[in-house]
Amino acid sequence: MKPVELRINLKEYDSPLELPEAERELIAAAAAAGTKAYAPFSGFEVGAALRLDDGSIHTGSNQESEAFPSGLCAERTLLFHVLSNFPDRKITAMAIVCRSEKDRIRTPQTPCGACRQILLEAETRSGSPLPLILRGEEGPVWILASASLLMPWPFRLEH
Ligand code: THU
Repeated sequence: MKPVELRINLKEYDSPLELPEAERELIAAAAAAGTKAYAPFSGFEVGAALRLDDGSIHTGSNQESEAFPSGLCAERTLLFHVLSNFPDRKITAMAIVCRSEKDRIRTPQTPCGACRQILLEAETRSGSPLPLILRGEEGPVWILASASLLMPWPFRLEH
């Protein structure tokens, strides 16, 4: 037996003010999108914003349902919209911002497993790394250089 260790690297910035304008703009767009979340059941609002290689910014938010599993996370709401409408464009970065009715979130939250899978597939389809920018309602920002960092040993159809 030999132990196998996995490490992931990310960059933590104390505040969005440390980031270039393009990243700050995506964080602000994600925060604005989060205000359009429909989350009456969880009280957890997530906004996502991505930039395409033509410079355009697109946003989405989590949408819940009375028929509980029918709702969808912000990341997949946005990705499925963009992948269906702009299938030939590259996604150059995505920001994900969350807030909760219950507590002030001061630590970036990472996407759920299902969203990681779809993020990874979007990255693979585009053929270049998809950086993720994560933030809570306030506090530090985490930047992961590639969505694949959140998804080691992914399921692949060729397996
Ligand atoms: N949620 C997201 O939008 N993204 C995630 O990655 C995790 C969870 C949403 C789903 C649900 O509406 C609420 O947050 C609580 O789970």
